[in-house]
Amino acid sequence: MISAQTQFCIIIGDPVSHSLSPAMHNAAYIHLGIDNKFVYLGSNVKITDVKKVVESMRAMSNFRGLTCTVPHKIEVMKYLDWIDPIAKKIGAVNSVVNDGGILKGYNTDWLGALIPLKKHILLENKKVLVLGAGGAARAVVYALRSEKAHVTITNRTYEKAIELAREFECKPKEKIDGADTQIFDVIINTTSVGMSPAKDNSPLEVSALRKNQVIMDIVYSPYETQFLKQGKKAGATIIHGTEMLLHQGTAQFELYTGVKAPVEVMGKALFDALSL
Ligand code: ATR
Repeated sequence: MISAQTQFCIIIGDPVSHSLSPAMHNAAYIHLGIDNKFVYLGSNVKITDVKKVVESMRAMSNFRGLTCTVPHKIEVMKYLDWIDPIAKKIGAVNSVVNDGGILKGYNTDWLGALIPLKKHILLENKKVLVLGAGGAARAVVYALRSEKAHVTITNRTYEKAIELAREFECKPKEKIDGADTQIFDVIINTTSVGMSPAKDNSPLEVSALRKNQVIMDIVYSPYETQFLKQGKKAGATIIHGTEMLLHQGTAQFELYTGVKAPVEVMGKALFDALSL
């Protein structure tokens, strides 16, 4: 039963109506029997109104969690009382916690990448190729460097790869051809290439993927991208984009509730919401 004591969490974005976070979090509240204590909603908010939302959060004692999607996750940083050093380094806050009127910003996207990767590979000293140098790449590269992986970054706009590589002590590479991909233990797509409706595209057109590689995509629609299909065909271990989505959510659940996330329940809710 929702009451005056129920705490609420809201995901904001523009647009936000397709967000899967409410489904994942509310399913977890129900499973743990804390759906009287927490409820998770979504609201469309223009970027120019992010400041007003943050001010409301500070004034509302039951407004426990504020989740931000792109580009709000950069905008929100201006208005918080404290930002976790990891979120500062990544340059984005996707989760704001209201701690008795003190608003604290965190980033859980990097954990979304790291948790599934660590299930399959010990990253220390491994060679990793990151495709892309945008916002998602920053969280992925942070995760990899936190485990002391050797990271090479390539990007359509090469200057951005150079800049990101400089910041996180990685190697930039202008062009990747088929044979180059063989030397990497892990290859991660952080670009939007292959996302529906252009689902026949792959960020590595000519690739020589091989067994014993880990191939990860952050694109989750379609569930199995062309890039992952290439990896599967080569006998590599593949990690679907839904894994990153799930694990940024489980880490966020723990920040908002202080309770261990029921990973399987949240995964099922995610799959149901995606009709998988
Ligand atoms: P996000 O926050 O989701 O990472 P972003 O910051 O806009 O979004 O970054 C998108 C990434 O996908 C970038 O690396 C972008 O390359 P550019 O820096 O050259 O723009 C990459 N990307 C998007 N569309 C692409 C395409 N058609 N081919 C290659 N790379 C593409």
